[in-house]
Amino acid sequence: MEERLVSSQEQTGDQENETLRPLRLHEYIGQTKVKENLKIFIQAALQRSEPLDHVLLYGPPGLGKTTLANIIAAEMGVNIRTTSGPVIERPGDLAAILTALEPHDVLFIDEIHRLNRTAEEILYGAMEDACLDIIIGKGPSARSIRLSLPRFTLVGATTRAGQLTSPLRNRFGVISRLEYYEEADLLEIIQRTAGILRLEITEEGAEEIARRSRGTPRIANRLLKRVRDYAQVWENGAVTGTLAREALIRLDVDPAGLDLIDQKTLQTIIYTFQGGPVGLDTLAATIGEESETLEDVVEPFLLQKGFLQRTARGRMVTVAGYRHLGLTAPPGKSEPVDGGLFPEEQE
Ligand code: ADE
Repeated sequence: MEERLVSSQEQTGDQENETLRPLRLHEYIGQTKVKENLKIFIQAALQRSEPLDHVLLYGPPGLGKTTLANIIAAEMGVNIRTTSGPVIERPGDLAAILTALEPHDVLFIDEIHRLNRTAEEILYGAMEDACLDIIIGKGPSARSIRLSLPRFTLVGATTRAGQLTSPLRNRFGVISRLEYYEEADLLEIIQRTAGILRLEITEEGAEEIARRSRGTPRIANRLLKRVRDYAQVWENGAVTGTLAREALIRLDVDPAGLDLIDQKTLQTIIYTFQGGPVGLDTLAATIGEESETLEDVVEPFLLQKGFLQRTARGRMVTVAGYRHLGLTAPPGKSEPVDGGLFPEEQE
C-alpha cells in the first residue's frame, strides 16, 4: 500500500517535524491525566534527588509517546538515549547502551514489545538492581561477571501493551495509556503548529483540519502542511475554512477523516457482501490489500468511528457506516456496541 496521508505511522518526510514537537510539559497539549500525573512524579523525584521510576507509555501511533519521553528527560534535566526494540539485536548492543548512561539519564526504547527475549532479560536486572550480568567466554570456562550501572529511567513505548511479557510490564513503576485527542486539543495543536510555521489560519480552517485528523496530532500536522501548500499556490494567503475544505477534497480526505481506502473498505462490504459479515481474508483479497494492512492500518479507525463492527463471523458495516456514505442501512441492522468492539474484544 502506498503511503497514506492519514496514516498515523511516522513517514519519511516527517523528520522536519522535530521543530514542531513541544519540548516541555507546559507546551504539551492534551492528554491531561497523563501529563498531570507525570508532573507530580517528576517533581517528587527531583525533590528526592532520585531518578524517575521507569515509565511505560502505550497507545496508538502518532499520539506523542516519543515527544513525552523527550519531555520527561528535559523536565528531569538529564540526557536521553533513544533506541528501539527491533534495533537491539544482540545482548551486546543493549550492554553498550546501558554502560554509556550517566546517573538519572533516560533510556527511551520505542516499540519495546519487539525486544528479543535475551535483551529483555538483560533489562530485568538493569531496571531492578541497576546491574548488568555479562557472560565471558564459552563452554565450561564461561563465567558471569556483574557490572553495576548508574541508576537510570527506562521509558518504554508500545502500541501493543498486551504483547509485553508480564515480568517486563511489572518492572515499570508508571504505566500510562495515551488516548486519541479531542477535537478541541487538535485545534489548539494545529494553531500552535501554524504559529511555528508562520502560517495564517482562521479558526474555521483549523477546525476543518482538526475534525479530519483521526484524533492524532501527527496526522493533524501532516494535513496542515499539505493544506498550507494549497493556500500558498492558490491564494498566496491564509488557510480559511473554504480553502481547507477544498484542499482536503483534493487530498481525498472526507469530512470524517476517511481516505479512499477506508471508503473502499466500507463500500466493498456493502456492495459486494451485502453489508457483511465477511471474513478478513476474503475482504482483503477483494479490496486488493494484505490482510495485516487491513487489520492494523484500516480497521482501527473505522472501528473507533463506529462505522465497522467486528464479529465472530466477520466484519460488518454499521448503521452509522451506511449513514456516513449517504446510504440507508437495510432493515434489522443494529447499532455497534462501544465503537464496534464486542465486550469480549475490548482491552
Ligand atoms: N505537536 C504534536 N503533538 C503535540 C502536543 N500534544 N502538544 C503540542 N504540540 C504537539
